[in-house]
Amino acid sequence: MKLLNIAAETLHQAIPELNLTNITNLLEKPKHAHHGDLAFPCFELAKQKRKAPTLIASELSSILKSPLVEKTEAVGPYVNFFFKKDKIQLKIVQKIVEEKDQYGSIDIGKGENVVLDLSSPNIAKPFSMGHLRSTVIGNSIANILEKCGYNTVRINYLGDWGTQFGKLIAAYLKWGQEERVRNNPIPELLKLYVKFHEEAANDPSLNDEGRQWFKQLEDGNEQAISLWKWFREESLKEFEKIYQLLGVTFDSNNGEAFYNDKMEAVVDLLEQKRLLVQSDGAEVVELEENSSLPPCLIKKSDGATLYATRDLAAALYRKQEYKFSKALYIVGQEQTIHFQQVKAVLKKAGFAWAEEMHHVPFGLLLKDGKKMSTRKGKVVLLEEVIKEAIQLAEKNIQSKNPNLSDQEEIARQVGVGAIIFHDLKNYRMNSVEFSLEGMLKFEGETGPYVQYTYARANSILKKGNWTPEIIEDGLKDSYSWELTKLLQEFPAMIEKAHEDFDPSILAKHIVDVCQSFNSWYGQVKFLTEDDEKAARLALVAATTITIKESLRLLGIQAPQEM
Ligand code: ARG
Repeated sequence: MKLLNIAAETLHQAIPELNLTNITNLLEKPKHAHHGDLAFPCFELAKQKRKAPTLIASELSSILKSPLVEKTEAVGPYVNFFFKKDKIQLKIVQKIVEEKDQYGSIDIGKGENVVLDLSSPNIAKPFSMGHLRSTVIGNSIANILEKCGYNTVRINYLGDWGTQFGKLIAAYLKWGQEERVRNNPIPELLKLYVKFHEEAANDPSLNDEGRQWFKQLEDGNEQAISLWKWFREESLKEFEKIYQLLGVTFDSNNGEAFYNDKMEAVVDLLEQKRLLVQSDGAEVVELEENSSLPPCLIKKSDGATLYATRDLAAALYRKQEYKFSKALYIVGQEQTIHFQQVKAVLKKAGFAWAEEMHHVPFGLLLKDGKKMSTRKGKVVLLEEVIKEAIQLAEKNIQSKNPNLSDQEEIARQVGVGAIIFHDLKNYRMNSVEFSLEGMLKFEGETGPYVQYTYARANSILKKGNWTPEIIEDGLKDSYSWELTKLLQEFPAMIEKAHEDFDPSILAKHIVDVCQSFNSWYGQVKFLTEDDEKAARLALVAATTITIKESLRLLGIQAPQEM
């Protein structure tokens, strides 16, 4: 029961010269409710028929007929549709109540595999705000793809390999203390790394030492390997705490190091295809002919491989292992060129499937308008930030609902939900200002606002002892109609979010749903015993189903009470 389809089919009967999809795409949502439920602009038709759009609109309006349309009105160049609320409202609600959490599922994916490269923090370094964004955005995109019938593989491509580990080993052997690293691994390792850079500014020979240690690591030197393993384990333990708080899991933790023994094959392959060119002793693939990209560095003069080489190996491996139909890389926009290069090299090597690799970039998380950086030691430890959000949530809950049971768990769901929602409500390319206070408010476009609306709706159902029942008549008032219309848009929103890899479409939509629900809430007595009670409660139930499922797709839990 899609309003868009009803209007489009009604129009199509009157103007068969325009096809259904074309008509559907032209239909608009009027800004004001008194302009009806949908509007059809007549400009395109006017061009075809060489008539004035206003004339077309009034002619068209007079001949449109459908048992589900109350009336149409020509207003200027538009035909406005008003649907028969009593017939449609009930059908929409019943469908949602029947389908429950399956509401909005579509089978576009047909069981194809999509590989998502997400989170991917670097060991021995703090989990950054960028990694948080990647985790949260990637996880939600994966949920949305599953809702659309795809199988997903979430891969945490850990940054556990590269020249920086040579530097870290060199630094640890010079200045490190085992005890301190054990007690406080990430900050201590970061300190060593920062110190290395400071010292190397005066003593460039340190850089050579770092490079040599990385070479040792690549060559399998025992001391180097065992230090690296230790750094990796300690880091993973720390990251795991964050994933647990966020409620995110992965199908694979194969990071950069996993590809160590698969790199030579890549270099050989590029060699065979005669794509490797010498440049200052390094080996590169030139890309400027078709794409005007800088050459892609494959192998350094000392034989060490690079970030791009590892990504090439990973792409080839994933294609083989998972037979993906799409591979998504949820990584900050600063790596755009890198992903263009990797894709271009694969295409140049003849792998047509590289076309289905998509970099899904995002903007920065800012604190007071500035990027949160790790290099200079200005680190904000993410785990602490999340815990602070949970504490703030607990305070808010206590002042609102002091007798609530299971406060600790609900505070976790609300605190984490606040962070995730704040990240996802804006289009991912926009930078996001990180303000705990703002994101934890119970009003405005926040996670807690949506969760609170859910809990409120839920408590109405509980008080009314609601169970699904057969209803004869739908609701006719404008508040419940506006809400119902928003609920019926949910499947289309999911489809759009999937097309654009953009969870913010769902976040914005669910805020609209909550606002609409709360306006209705303000002027209706749900539990009054009259003819409409059952229909009212059914709409409340449909609202809870939609909010809960929308939050789930965003990666956020919905507490029953709060
Ligand atoms: N570890 C990298 C970083 O923190 C991100 C990895 C992104 N994924 C990839 N396949 N390159 O910058």
